[in-house]
Amino acid sequence: MKIKGVIFDLDGVITDTAEYHYIAWKDLANKIGIDIGREFNETLKGISRGESLERILEKGNKAEFYTNEQKEELAKYKNDYYLTLLERLTPNDIMDNIEETLLYLKENDIKIALASASKNAPLILEKLQLREYFEVIVDPASVKTGKPSPDIFLEGAKLMNLNPKECIGVEDSEAGVIAINDSNMLSIGIGSEENLGHAKIIIPNTSRLKETIEKIEQKQLT
Ligand code: BG6
Ligand code: MG
Repeated sequence: MKIKGVIFDLDGVITDTAEYHYIAWKDLANKIGIDIGREFNETLKGISRGESLERILEKGNKAEFYTNEQKEELAKYKNDYYLTLLERLTPNDIMDNIEETLLYLKENDIKIALASASKNAPLILEKLQLREYFEVIVDPASVKTGKPSPDIFLEGAKLMNLNPKECIGVEDSEAGVIAINDSNMLSIGIGSEENLGHAKIIIPNTSRLKETIEKIEQKQLT
């Protein structure tokens, strides 16, 4: 396949902020008497802040106990804690092989975009000192529906002036892989077969991402 663009998810792909989201949601959930575990957390990955909170409240059968204003306070409480966890983020926290992959793409004139549901994405890329690699950062507020809808990936391809069929999407979430598949891009899932069995290609972590992309280009993987 001739690859013209790669669209990355951020949390859990470029850096391990997926873990920070989990820590912060778990703290908030405990505070309001709801227990969440890792399995449930898989269903939150890729999902916006507001929608994640709704899912947690529904899990604890508490959705109707809170007004919209109170829900906003809860979401703010979670984000404030999450922001304190982000304070410690440095370029040392970039996942394995990610910078090598970005460099390889850049050197081969393959465009790079970010399709993250996170409003904190620009801040995180700055902290990791990776901002310059990205030609496009899709603003999640600019698309109508979040993942698993393909909208954010389609918008990324559009902003790069590329046909989705010329692009690869990289994701660690169930919802994100569905979004990539439905956008007609080739999906690379980072994680387990159990959670990401619907990805076209699955790798357990990012350590062989560059090699995987090279193999796709050489048609050794499709
Ligand atoms: C996604 C994460 O990238 O961004 C979700 O996978 C998170 O866990 C979502 O809820 C929104 O992030 P933020 O930073 O805007 O609260
Ligand atoms: Mg993710």
